[in-house]
Amino acid sequence: MSLLIREVSTTDVPMELLLLSDPSEDKVRSYLPRSRCFIASSGGVLVGACVVQELGAGAHELMSIAIRPAHQKSGYGTALLKWVIDFFRGSGASQMEVGTGSFGYQLELPHEFRLPA
Ligand SMILES: CC(C)(COP(=O)(O)OP(=O)(O)OC[C@H]1O[C@@H](n2cnc3c(N)ncnc32)[C@H](O)[C@@H]1OP(=O)(O)O)[C@@H](O)C(=O)NCCC(=O)NCCS
Repeated sequence: MSLLIREVSTTDVPMELLLLSDPSEDKVRSYLPRSRCFIASSGGVLVGACVVQELGAGAHELMSIAIRPAHQKSGYGTALLKWVIDFFRGSGASQMEVGTGSFGYQLELPHEFRLPA
């Protein structure tokens, strides 16, 4: 599996993917301006997206993470989440909150994903 992950402008988010994790487009659009968005591609195909909101003082909140249904259960969700946590850890983050709702399949965060205190 080769996954290419990069940050995109919040005006270029793949809304069809973000709606997999939150069915309200209005709600997604309400937090986008204060967030950063990352997309994942495999073989030139967009397979996933993730949105993180910066809360200030080193704290961040995972607002949304989604993998295209045909590509789920292939490890992409784990790889994207791990990449994003490493990205924020590398830029000095001290805390990542998971603020997802109860819609869809819920991710569990393994211990190694926790940020240092
Ligand atoms: C949640 C989501 C991002 C996971 O992405 P993914 O690429 O399928 O996840 P992975 O392949 O990395 O799997 C991670 C683990 O979850 C398990 N898993 C994934 N989908 C599952 C499902 N539908 N039911 C049960 N277990 C599941 C995998 O088996 C794996 O467990 P393991 O490490 O013990 O083997 C994806 O299912 C998704 O986009 N769901 C819809 C949006 C959503 O609900 N997002 C979360 C709330 S914001």
